[in-house]
Parts: sequence; structure tokens; C-alpha cells
Amino acid sequence: MAKRIAILTGGGDCPGLNPAIRGVVLKAAKLGYECVGIQEGWKGMIAGDSKPLSIDDVKEIVNKGGTILGTSRTNPYKKEGGVPKVLETFKKLDLHALVALGGEDTLGVAAKLFKEHKCNVIGVPKTMDNDLDATDYTFGFDTSATLAMEAAGRLIDTGRSHRRIMVLEVMGRHAGWVALFTAIGAGADYVCLPERPVDIKDMVAKLKAAHAKKNVALVVTSEAVDIPGEKKEEELDEFGHMILKSRGVAERLCKIIEAETKIETRSAVIGHMQRGGAPTLFDRILGTRVGVKAAELVHEGKFGNMVALKGDAVVAVSLEAATAKLKTVTPEWLKLSDDLL
Ligand code: F6P
Repeated sequence: MAKRIAILTGGGDCPGLNPAIRGVVLKAAKLGYECVGIQEGWKGMIAGDSKPLSIDDVKEIVNKGGTILGTSRTNPYKKEGGVPKVLETFKKLDLHALVALGGEDTLGVAAKLFKEHKCNVIGVPKTMDNDLDATDYTFGFDTSATLAMEAAGRLIDTGRSHRRIMVLEVMGRHAGWVALFTAIGAGADYVCLPERPVDIKDMVAKLKAAHAKKNVALVVTSEAVDIPGEKKEEELDEFGHMILKSRGVAERLCKIIEAETKIETRSAVIGHMQRGGAPTLFDRILGTRVGVKAAELVHEGKFGNMVALKGDAVVAVSLEAATAKLKTVTPEWLKLSDDLL
């Protein structure tokens, strides 16, 4: 009988998950394994909720957004009896290995299961935030930032017609990569990043100057920026992360900018629209490559590793090291931002 590999997707979904699932299943089949799909991340491992995952199931998903397996932000370490149930599912489903596709939270659980229980796990990094330290890029980021860049272009059009300043809020949690790439790609006039508090005086001066020249100015802001004097949102998810959706950063910046510049200002929040839709070519190829590599690592018995993109190579790095710290915008990128915006 063929050995069985389970696949799960956890945390926020992002474009590229389906190509990655496809990559695992196709390569696993070539290597003589069968696959099952765990439903809705760690929640499915706790509940023992799985479905067979055949080549036919993944044939036509390379261009599809979301994840065919469903996802959740469930943390087995925060659920009563969660971890023993995960271990039970491992046995019940007679799993040889588990490939977990996720960001720092999902992969953090995988790292702990490997360390504490010697589970045969392999991690695949995904996140639109691009904030995983051990890999150059995560799939999902390119699609999300491209969509935000296009939205920014549209805001510039309407802003110019109305002689307005426009503020676009993008996701990205506590790393400013999405905001930064969106701002540079769209030719924005200012970017607000979570890596440093907003400098209101500097922002207002730059927006006024840009507006005077072009009849429009655009600010791209990350959802997690600190605005001086603002009270922080305290609601936390199961992994202890701040839930940022209700902070209303764009709205607040909009009011400040309008008051300081006396120029009519409007804000827009792209939010979850950034996470849906067909993956870009880059994300399809990266997702496929890391998925294929994950199946290879299972075959080689290299458990406790995560697949990472390093330059042009897809390599294995230890899950523990990969989840040790977040990758935030570096001083070099901040300098580039300051040179351009
Ligand atoms: O981590 C991905 C992400 O999209 C963040 O950028 C954002 O803060 C968060 O997920 C939103 O989470 P949810 O889908 O649970 O609202």
C-alpha cells in the first residue's frame, strides 16, 4: 500500500496555495505516495477531518485563488486536548507525513510538533505579508501587492479628477512589505510603514508639494502603522496577534491630512480583496516549486524542515530557525523608500 501524505493549509489564505497543493500532490504521486487533504488547517487535524486528494482533484487548480482545503486560524496549543487530538489523527489516518502550508503561526505549530513529538512534518511558507525570515519571498505576496498597486493607480485617476489627496490602506500585518512595494510600484507620494511611527509633519509637507505639482497625491499606508497619539487596538487572535481590521488607519490618516493640508482627502481600504483572485505567474511558479520540493523532502525523510526560496534555488531550512523571527522591512529598503518617496 502507498504511504500517505496529508496536506493542510492554515492561517490567512493567499493566492498560490492551490498551485502549491497541486505541486505536492503531483510530485508525491510520481514518488509513489497517496495524498489526503486535511480540511481547514489545524482545526481539521484536531477533528480528524480529511478528504482524499487525487491527481484529478488538483488538475485544474493552478489558476485558482483561495485554498481548496479551506483554512482556519486554529491553534492546537490553545485548544483543550488539541495536541493529543492532532497526534491521534496522525495515527488514525495512518499518515507517513504531514505537509503544512502556512505562515509563522501554522509553521510554528509544525515546528513544535516536530520538536516535542517527532512528528514527520514539512513546512511550506505562504503569506501575502512576505514576513517569513528564512525565505526570500513567499507566494501570495506578488499577487497581493500587484493588486494593491493596480488599485492605487485607480485612486490616482479619480483623485486627480477631483483634485484630492488619496489614502490607500493595505494589509501586511506588522511587516511593511506590501505597503512598500505597492507605494514604489504605483509611484505614490508617501508611504506609512509599521516599522516606524508616522511623521505627520514630513508627510503633510510632501503631500502638499506633490499635490501642488500634480493636482493629486497618494499615500499608501500599512494597516498596522502607529499614528502618534493613537490608541492601539487590543483584540488578539488565537496566536496572540492583534486583529487589525477595525483600527481604521486610513480613515484616521485621512482626517489628519485634510485638517493639516486643507485639501479634500479620501481613503480606501483594499482589505481582503488583496487575498482573493488568480495568482500571478510568479506566485504560480513559486507555489508549484515549493510544493514539489516539499514532496521531495518527505521522500528523503528530511522532516522538521521548511522549504525556502534562496536566490533562485528552492532549499530546505530548519522549521525552528524559519519561525524564530519575523522579517520586517530592512534599513536598506527604508533607505530606498526615503530616496524615492
Ligand atoms: O497574515 C495575512 C493577513 O492577510 C494580514 O495581512 C492581515 O492582518 C490578516 O491576515 C487578516 O486576517 P483575517 O483574514 O483573519 O481577518
